[in-house]
Amino acid sequence: MQVAGKTAFITGGGGGIGGGIAEALVEKGARVVLADVDLDHAQAKAAELGDAALALTLDVTSLESWAAAKGATEARFGPVDILCNNAGISTPRMDLEEVPPELFARVLAINVTGVQNGIASFAGEMKARGSGHIVNTSSMNGLNPFGTFGAYSASKFAVLGLSDALRQECAPHGVGVSTLFPGLTKSRMSLDPKDGPAADPETLAALLPRMMDPVWSGRAVVRAIEEGQAYIVTHPDYRPIFAARCEEILAAFGDPAQPGYGTGASATMA
Ligand SMILES: NC(=O)c1ccc[n+]([C@@H]2O[C@H](COP(=O)([O-])OP(=O)(O)OC[C@H]3O[C@@H](n4cnc5c(N)ncnc54)[C@H](O)[C@@H]3O)[C@@H](O)[C@H]2O)c1
Repeated sequence: MQVAGKTAFITGGGGGIGGGIAEALVEKGARVVLADVDLDHAQAKAAELGDAALALTLDVTSLESWAAAKGATEARFGPVDILCNNAGISTPRMDLEEVPPELFARVLAINVTGVQNGIASFAGEMKARGSGHIVNTSSMNGLNPFGTFGAYSASKFAVLGLSDALRQECAPHGVGVSTLFPGLTKSRMSLDPKDGPAADPETLAALLPRMMDPVWSGRAVVRAIEEGQAYIVTHPDYRPIFAARCEEILAAFGDPAQPGYGTGASATMA
């Protein structure tokens, strides 16, 4: 789908990657809604982008909030062609048994239920119209989990599962679905000394050169929408870690656990 002249709704649009997606879409002639729980940040980014951008308050965990933001979007720009489920939160590093239950629930509520709420709000109408594109932001942590970041990784694996299922459901209706897997990218989250990857100024100084500018993630998203790509990998340097993990899983596909078990229905179950 070409993005010029289309309307895109971007959650977490007041943040780094959401702002980068918005900027790249506007560069290519789209109109954008920056929907964020932090209206000040969304408004600041919208002001940079001019008349093509509208800032709205949205709490992705609330379906009522989605309904209000959808109504305000349609009143200004008409139906939404592109949905970017991008809002997310990170967590401080800790072993899983130490993660407070309320923090675990909050990460899943924003990072996973927030995405599902976006799908529930927009996918049906896109399918009925026979056009549209949905981009869900996962993370490199949604392909390569690592210790002390398990709650976040679990949420980002869930985003991939949702997205792949959604892609199968949407394809017959002419609606595209892509999953974005950013690596380190400059944003409030990644620069945050509490939840980001660098807890001290020295580590941050070492990591900063490895952090991508978010507009480049945005341009990769635009390409994926226009070319119908399922997966968007912005940081190919993580490939060896992912390949090693895939190989370990593939190696586990050995003999069946039950002797004599044939290739039955499970082999073809879609
Ligand atoms: N920055 C990175 O290195 C990196 C890497 C991989 C994945 N990601 C993912 O990219 C996405 C964007 O994060 P970012 O790096 O731009 O961080 P960010 O903190 O700059 O942006 C996240 C935005 O989401 C908003 N938000 C939080 N809770 C919300 C809610 N309940 N409803 C609506 N908006 C809410 C925040 O206000 C913020 O503006 C997230 O899903 C994150 O997990 C980031």
